[in-house]
Amino acid sequence: MDTAANPNKVLWEKGDFTRIADTMRESGEALVQRIGVTRGLKVLDLGCGDGTTAVPAAKLGADVLGVDIARNLVEAGNKRAAELGLKSCRFQEGDASNLEQLADQSFDFVISIFGAMFAPRPFDVAKEMVRVTRPGGRIVMGNWIPNDPTLVAQILKISSSYTPPPPEGFVSPMAWGVESHVIERFSAAGVPPANISFQRDTFTFNFRGTPAALLDEFRKYYGPTMNAFEAAQKNGRAAALQKELEDLFNSQNRIKDGTSIPATFLRVTITC
Ligand SMILES: C[S@@+](CC[C@H](N)C(=O)[O-])C[C@H]1O[C@@H](n2cnc3c(N)ncnc32)[C@H](O)[C@@H]1O
Repeated sequence: MDTAANPNKVLWEKGDFTRIADTMRESGEALVQRIGVTRGLKVLDLGCGDGTTAVPAAKLGADVLGVDIARNLVEAGNKRAAELGLKSCRFQEGDASNLEQLADQSFDFVISIFGAMFAPRPFDVAKEMVRVTRPGGRIVMGNWIPNDPTLVAQILKISSSYTPPPPEGFVSPMAWGVESHVIERFSAAGVPPANISFQRDTFTFNFRGTPAALLDEFRKYYGPTMNAFEAAQKNGRAAALQKELEDLFNSQNRIKDGTSIPATFLRVTITC
């Protein structure tokens, strides 16, 4: 993959998402149980990061392939799987917009939690997810929701307001959090609307330190927030961005000793 030509890859390799993923472990484990990952299923986790859902899916006995655009996260995922002795969990580089290395109808279950939503060309993403799922198999996506008042939607909204406007023709990843767009994209991939369902769900970010210290992790390691701070520093707005995000993290925290912040997302389920 040509790094220089792929801003999407550059964005996610820039930071170290494992630092954020460390706060998402409990929710990843709970989610794979809730959506019915079971022993023996062939699972593709798309935009898998270091395995927030891939690793617990493999622990449940599924045969899991994690695909992610970021080389550092693929390496981190393979390291985690090896350390845990999970032989049925492997990670490789790939782009959700073009899964040419994967055969048609080769998975029982395709999962993409806050992953494929960040890939360019959303119609191609839907087409590829449907292509690699076997007839009767399932796809589950987790997508942040535009203008939702909870943590991640607000981080992305605030960050984008400090970042230069995207290039002409850029489609916001947040459109994946709008039901009509999801239906349009999967209908174009041949899925009848009756086979698509939606639920509001929650992921909780748990962190030992204060909300300000968790924000610091996002500032140092989460690509979209790193970019926002870089842009804000250039025009003297970094303190304003810091304040806006600190207020957000503090107001969303649910516990006194440490940090626990729930974030709402749109769970999309598709039967192929
Ligand atoms: C917010 S992280 C979520 C990671 C993981 N699903 C989790 O829940 O921890 C977004 C992930 O999507 C990956 N990603 C972004 N664009 C992608 C693309 N075009 N194809 C595959 N993965 C992509 C990023 O590298 C990153 O690992």
